[in-house]
Amino acid sequence: MGKIIAITNQKGGVGKTTTALNLASSLALADENILVIDSDPQGNLTSGLGIKRESIKAGLYELYLGKAEFKDVMMQSIIPNLHILPTTMDLFAVELELLEQPDRENILSNILKPYKDNYRYIFIDCPPSFGLLTLNALVAAQSVIVPVQCEYFALEGLSLLIKLLWRIRGSFNEALDLEGILLTMFNRHLALSRQISDEVRRVFKSKVYDTVIPRNVILAESVSYGKPAVLYAPNSLGAQGYISLAKEILNDNNLLF
Ligand SMILES: Nc1ncnc2c1ncn2[C@@H]1O[C@H](COP(=O)(O)OP(=O)(O)O)[C@@H](O)[C@H]1O
Ligand SMILES: [Mg+2]
Repeated sequence: MGKIIAITNQKGGVGKTTTALNLASSLALADENILVIDSDPQGNLTSGLGIKRESIKAGLYELYLGKAEFKDVMMQSIIPNLHILPTTMDLFAVELELLEQPDRENILSNILKPYKDNYRYIFIDCPPSFGLLTLNALVAAQSVIVPVQCEYFALEGLSLLIKLLWRIRGSFNEALDLEGILLTMFNRHLALSRQISDEVRRVFKSKVYDTVIPRNVILAESVSYGKPAVLYAPNSLGAQGYISLAKEILNDNNLLF
């Protein structure tokens, strides 16, 4: 059975897209069928998988507006069993265009329903805001991964986000669960990184992944080659972090079933 996981945090630059890209790729390289959805109009996930704007005939925007079907939008990535629903900048307009549409928070959920079980996991990379795109992701998802950058005010932002998730659960999606909190951009030489990590673990306990993603320039550099780090430099510390996260998630989920 497929599981839909939204990767979300209202803050930008915390590692959402990097996590979607490298976690999905790690699982696909481990022979799982995976779909990633680029739900951020900036399209960093799309370009991170080496997909050029010109090669996208229809993206998530057309899918939301019913101008294209799943099969027309879905693209094969450089990793054989990793599929993507790519995006173009047009997606910026979708929140305004759908403002009047009834049932507008269920669009993505309805789109994914017939295809859900073709995949072991579907990951949705969310934009850094709480608009209709994030709401659709949280209504479609069964659980949420929250990347948290090890820096000042991380805990304040995180508490706000958790409150919001529980509100979504109360109003739109009672099955929504917290899959896990992921500490990102960890610098083991910085006392601050260690302090934040200790504090997040003290408050959120077993909900925080054992795996910590280190700050590693390869994770940023690989994107400019249109490849995830786990493919571009699998032995780098950053790639190893995401491979370890993939194993942890598979283990957690097997224990549950
Ligand atoms: N662990 C890391 N080490 C170094 N750079 C990182 C790491 N994670 C992300 N980055 C870089 O930081 C920037 C923001 O990350 P990104 O994943 O795009 O965040 P978000 O999607 O939350 O906005 C990007 O340039 C990305 O390549
Ligand atoms: Mg992003």
